[in-house]
Order: sequence, then C-alpha cells, then structure tokens
Amino acid sequence: MSALRPDPASPDRPACEGGTPIRDSLLPFFRLDLGREEEEAVLAVLRSGWLTTGPQCERFEAAFASYTEARHAIATSSCTTGLHLILHAAGVGPGDEVLVPAMTFPATASAVLHAGARPVLVDVLPEQLTIDPAAVAAAIGPRTRAIVAVHLAGWPAEMDALRALAAERGVVLIEDAAHAIGTRYRGRSAGTLGDAASFSFYANKNLTTCEGGMVTTARDDWARTIRVARLHGIDVDASRRDGRGYRHWESVALGWKYNLNDMQAALGLAQMPKLAAWQARRVAIDRHYRAALAQVEGVAVLRGPDGGETSAHIFPVLVDTERLRIDRDALLQALLAEGIGVGVHYRALPLHRFFREDLGFRAEAFPVATDASHRTLSLPMFPALAGAEIDQVVAALARILRYYAR
Ligand SMILES: Cc1ncc(COP(=O)(O)O)c(C=O)c1O
Repeated sequence: MSALRPDPASPDRPACEGGTPIRDSLLPFFRLDLGREEEEAVLAVLRSGWLTTGPQCERFEAAFASYTEARHAIATSSCTTGLHLILHAAGVGPGDEVLVPAMTFPATASAVLHAGARPVLVDVLPEQLTIDPAAVAAAIGPRTRAIVAVHLAGWPAEMDALRALAAERGVVLIEDAAHAIGTRYRGRSAGTLGDAASFSFYANKNLTTCEGGMVTTARDDWARTIRVARLHGIDVDASRRDGRGYRHWESVALGWKYNLNDMQAALGLAQMPKLAAWQARRVAIDRHYRAALAQVEGVAVLRGPDGGETSAHIFPVLVDTERLRIDRDALLQALLAEGIGVGVHYRALPLHRFFREDLGFRAEAFPVATDASHRTLSLPMFPALAGAEIDQVVAALARILRYYAR
C-alpha cells in the first residue's frame, strides 16, 4: 500500500492532469474475501454426491431465517427470480400495476414485467434515494397491487410510512432487499418489514453464493406457493428425491426453474458465521468515510430514515457538480487515475434506453432520481478495506474537487 504522496511541485494537481497518483496500484471498488471454510464447504458438497437443492439448502434457509428472524426463508436462484416469485404468490399479473422506485437496478422493475404486470416508476427522497412515500401516495391508483421498496445502499426505505400506506390502500408491500443483508429498521431486520422480501447473493453482495437469492415472508400461504413455484411447480416433498426409494412426484402448479443448488447453499452457509464481524467492519468503514468526508466541501453522504441501521453494502456519495468545472463522469475517470476504484448506483431507470423507448418513461418526471443519477458515485466498500485506504480515497476525492472547483 502506498502512503499519501502529494506532488511536491504541485500538491493539488490530480493524476489525470499529470500529478502523481495518490496510489500506485488500483484500489478495487470491491474485493471478495472468501477463505478455507468456503472452499471446504463447497468441496464437501461436490464429494457428497448430492449437488442440487437438498440438505445444504435447507440448512442455509434455516440459518437465514434465524438471522433475519423471518418466519420463512426460501432460497432462490437470484433476487430477481425471488421478486418474480413473490409477485406470483401475491397474484400480481396482467392488468396490474406495481410501484417501483425510479432509482434502482433494472431487475426491480423487470421482475414486475416478468409477472406480466406494469411497473409504475416513483421518484425518491433527495437525501436517501429510497422511494418517496408522498410520491407513492400520489401514484397509487385503482390498478395498483403492490409497492416494491428498495433498501438502497443498505439503508432501509421509509418503511413505517410505506406500511401505513399499503395497509390503508390495500396493496402489498415488498422489500427489494438486494443490498440489505444486515439492514435493520426500528429494531427489526430487513426481510420482516413488509409482506415479503427478496435478498441477493450476487458475487459482490455482503454474502455471496456466486448467484443466488432468498425470499423471506411471514405468510404461510405465500411460502408454500413460492416453494412449489421455484422448482417446476412440483410438490415439494416428492422433489426431495434421495435416490434410495421412489415416489411419484407431481406437477401441482405452474412453476419455474428458480431453485438454488446445494453447492451455492453451502458457500452461503459457510459465510453465515462471518456476517456479524463483516457487518461491524462495514459499519466502521461507513463511519470512517462519513467523518473524513465531513471535511470535504461539495460532497454529501446518504442518510437513512429515523430508526434505520445500514448494512453498509455500498457507499454512494452525491457530488455538488455545479461547483465543478467537470461532470461526474470525468470525476470517475479522475478517481481511477488516482488508483481509486469507483461505481455508480445508479443511473435512474428512465435514463436507460429500454425504460425510455420501450416503456415510455421520461426522466423529467423523476427530478430527484434524475438529478442524483448525474451526481452520484460510489466509493470502495468491502470489509477488508483498511483505514489508510479510506484516507487515500478521501484525499483523492478532495484533491480532484479542489482542483476542478469553479
Ligand atoms: C436493488 C437491486 N435489486 C435487484 C437486484 C438483482 O439481484 P440478482 O442479481 O440477485 O437478481 C440487484 C442486483 O444487484 C439490485 O442491486
């Protein structure tokens, strides 16, 4: 790791203008940190003779249910397929509308399309970038069947207000908990804050199964439907075929191929005991960033709702680009030139061609999400990120902002 190395001739000249980079190797935006436990768990499954959905999945589901204090946890092939299964269980289909925040990953809305329903985009809160309850209240109409709240970056959405609206207007409240492994709200875990939730175990998530997801719900009827629908619509007991006997299995409903396999489940299960320590480290990094960035003019950090605790999945900031001679995209390149990995979470859905041209959304209708799309960037965040590395990230950002200030 390189120490801070200001250029003695011109300490403020950024690397993209010929200054000395703050780091001489790239600090990645995200670094995976798996070890022997994960390797051994996956090998054990490979050697066991049972590869697909089976005992490891059951154990992983039980561990995740206990972690989130959810009544049911059902492993899926991804968060996206989990969202689709929830919408299916909720009876959402053609002719229905589902409210989705404009500031999210496309999957939140595409799951609604997979269910045959229409996603209706809703603007987000300016300092939180989660779905705006007032905009939700205005958007609920006679066809609205569900609201999907995204816990963006790991901060919970305004769940009390959303739950009250959902109850009052008779619609379902679903958590897109892709970023929310470790998120809490008023003493309760994400996954228990609405009617059902879908988590992601994609490769860069707080816990990963390469690809994978988990649905949590307190509703027994939905849990049953989702279990059956995730694996071809076959009745569940008979699908646990262990090769020792034979029972006819039966197709009892429409289903998909959305199950998680046992190698993936074992990989996830091996990380469960590590989650608490990883979470503590992520939160410490989040605090370190906040304290250091408080000294940097022109950068705002996201905040959560009252009573919210973040999973610190990612660390997006909002840059006041009006103070700068460069735009956000040039800023991303300038940070990369300093050796700092970056991400963008997100460019709002109406800025994407599919949402604009095929679905007809206009960016102007979502001013908060659109404005944030041009000002947000995410800084490196992973449990092994060192304090000195955080200082380098902040020093690089501060140097670039100073240099390009109007
Ligand atoms: C907010 C959000 N929702 C849904 C997804 C989709 O997750 P998956 O890749 O597990 O389907 C992602 C993926 O990163 C996401 O960020």
